[in-house]
Amino acid sequence: MRLSTLLAAAGIDAATSSDPEITRIDYDSRSCEPGSLFVAVRGFHADGHDFAAGAVERGAVAVVAGHGMAQVRAALVVVPDTRVALSALAAAWHGFPSRDMCVAGITGTDGKTTTATMLWAAWAASGLAAGSLTTVDWRSRGTVTANKSRQTTLEAPELQEHLARLRADGVTHAAVETSSHALELHRADHVAYRAGVYTRITSEHLELHGSREAYLRAKARLLELVGPRPDGVAVLDPEDDFAYPLLSRIPVASRLTYTTSPDAPADVRAERLDQGPRGLRVAAATPWGRAEFSLRLAGRFNAANALAALTAACATGAGLDGAVRGLEGLERVDGRMERVEAGQPFTVVIDYAHTAEALHQALTELRPATSGRLWVVFGSAGERDVAKRPAMGAVAARLADVSVITDEDPRLEDRLRILEDIAAGATEAGGRRGEDVVVVPDRSEAIDFAVAHAAEGDTVLLAGKGHESTLISGATAQPWDERAVAEDAIRRRLAGA
Ligand SMILES: Nc1ncnc2c1ncn2[C@@H]1O[C@H](COP(=O)(O)OP(=O)(O)OP(=O)(O)O)[C@@H](O)[C@H]1O
Ligand SMILES: [Mg+2]
Repeated sequence: MRLSTLLAAAGIDAATSSDPEITRIDYDSRSCEPGSLFVAVRGFHADGHDFAAGAVERGAVAVVAGHGMAQVRAALVVVPDTRVALSALAAAWHGFPSRDMCVAGITGTDGKTTTATMLWAAWAASGLAAGSLTTVDWRSRGTVTANKSRQTTLEAPELQEHLARLRADGVTHAAVETSSHALELHRADHVAYRAGVYTRITSEHLELHGSREAYLRAKARLLELVGPRPDGVAVLDPEDDFAYPLLSRIPVASRLTYTTSPDAPADVRAERLDQGPRGLRVAAATPWGRAEFSLRLAGRFNAANALAALTAACATGAGLDGAVRGLEGLERVDGRMERVEAGQPFTVVIDYAHTAEALHQALTELRPATSGRLWVVFGSAGERDVAKRPAMGAVAARLADVSVITDEDPRLEDRLRILEDIAAGATEAGGRRGEDVVVVPDRSEAIDFAVAHAAEGDTVLLAGKGHESTLISGATAQPWDERAVAEDAIRRRLAGA
């Protein structure tokens, strides 16, 4: 495609010095090839503009940059925001795949992956050709591929490529987990979302007023993308005191609310939630009729995720019966409240909880089923939200009997500093260092420690890694399998006993 054709399709109105033939779009100079269009974006560790010359050396014939660069020997396109341009160019390159499908974006603090997977299941069981893109996997109709990228919402070129692949597979309905990070970085700006689905937005881990507002604004962007459509749908939790007041003011063609509180007014409302023999039983009133179903996924919070998914499915073409069948059929979402059974006389659960709210939910869920002590092994990722560290420590100290604080992807940060930040929150909340709050930096050793000391009737929650297949320390990602590590620890414990 000629550069001028691509720019026009992307709606980028900028002068260029020449009009070369473009063969691919790259934002990493190392992947540039002859014919590449290199888009310079500012990243967390480096600025793409510094690598423009290198990109051209590797064959890039055009460079999109935020400012003029005299030394670059290629067609130069200067734009106000290179991330927005990257999103537009990627969508145009693939022929705007999202415009040919019904795309629902799922955002919120916790429960995005679960809700997106539930939506996929609800659509699929209703006979629609469904796809999904989440932290855990990419689903195209019946085909499931693990997402090993460690990214929830991919960079715009990969995101658009995935959408193009779904369209080529005949998918008509796609659930796209959309992180606030991606919204803020404009990765999803050129996804033609039909629906914006919100799980609850919690903010206690964001202490600064400024960043709270920024977080909420980023989340609101999804609905602003949906807003102008004549068939746009918003799916909101009216009891989300933090987000609902803002989200409900964004104009959208159809706004539907869901709630798990029996007394709160909402379009889709759980009238009853009971723990049945086959899992959580939900009876809900909906605009499409009454729905009764059991969830095989553990955790009461999944009732809220299920109602959000049900609402989104029925608002976008699924039948209520099919949607309910889809929710009932979903057996698990990898790494979410999964039990590890290796013959031990206590319970071991793996869960992806990695926010204060999720940890709160998971521990509250496990407490009633625990006759002995409740253990939690957890950490907090490096180069991510730092304010949640003490908040997670405090939740653990309050709700668990023993907190074992350990590594969770320290990345290039000082790992011990992260653990101390968490421990400070734990002791502040009444935890006693060396007694019910222990720091064991190596994650395998931390799991070993909890498993070795757990007694009959205890529950050990391994939180924060879930399905993830790597543990990132420094600049290297070592292979990781939380289940295998837990099973090994249990075997050692049983052999020693
Ligand atoms: N509706 C909810 N409210 C609070 N906590 C939840 C909710 N749903 C799930 N959780 C907790 O959050 C964890 C992660 O769930 P899930 O993977 O669905 O969230 P996510 O929003 O996709 O996370 P991420 O931001 O890492 O992609 C679960 O293991 C559970 O502990
Ligand atoms: Mg996710």
